[in-house]
Amino acid sequence: MPLKPGHVALGETELLELVRSQPRPQHLAVIMDGNGRWATQRGLPRVAGHSEGVKSARTVVRAVDALGIRYLTLYAFSSENWSRPGEEVSMLMTLLERSIHQELPELMARNIRLQVIGRADGVPHTVKRGIDHVMYETAGNTGMTLFMAFNYGGRDELVDAFRELARQVQAGKLRPDEIDEHLISTSLYTAGAPDPDLLIRTSGEMRISNFLLWQIAYTELWVTPVLWPDFGPHDLYRAIAEYQRRDRRFGGV
Ligand code: FPP
Repeated sequence: MPLKPGHVALGETELLELVRSQPRPQHLAVIMDGNGRWATQRGLPRVAGHSEGVKSARTVVRAVDALGIRYLTLYAFSSENWSRPGEEVSMLMTLLERSIHQELPELMARNIRLQVIGRADGVPHTVKRGIDHVMYETAGNTGMTLFMAFNYGGRDELVDAFRELARQVQAGKLRPDEIDEHLISTSLYTAGAPDPDLLIRTSGEMRISNFLLWQIAYTELWVTPVLWPDFGPHDLYRAIAEYQRRDRRFGGV
């Protein structure tokens, strides 16, 4: 059910109050799309859009943390993004590495645990080392878990999980009929986290783009035409307020 027209007109403070007055999602996932278009519209190189996108990511992490949401998953680089021009790919790698390094003090101060999810192959050694360092430093943090999907593909994730289960069967540690939904869930990169309650996609595209394919079976979707660099707390609160008005039936009546 869409927000009442009155809600759309609400200012940021009122929306925040509304969001705080009801149960928030436990796990929020975001496809941060539209950086390239944002830059192109301004006659800037695409990479300028990514730099601006990092600022939106920082703002959203802070706002989500302040709402007491336990899990946030951001889609930073997909396994398909390697097909972009080499210069854009290497800039995205550098940007990610630099960003997580710069954010480490704030992640610690906020007690946020960073988990980068995705495949390591193809990721430059220095970037991998930087990621491992921040994951190691934040591993003991007990507040919000921030999953950063990087060199991530939903099908890759399922392939990796099934391979691991097949190995266990081959080793005689697991019987095929012991494989159930719970075991598959706990074999994914997001093991231990609840499935996302809400998935936000910016820039208006109506697709899933190989993101969290298993986990989003019953996730509520919210798509906004706003481009990621323009996405701010007001948009976030609108998405959550609309989610809070939805009637989740999980296939029931
Ligand atoms: C989509 O824009 C965004 C990405 C490819 C992911 C990169 C995201 C960021 C740099 C922001 C967050 C970064 C961190 C480190 C959390 P697009 O290039 O696909 O846009 P387009 O569809 O308009 O071309």
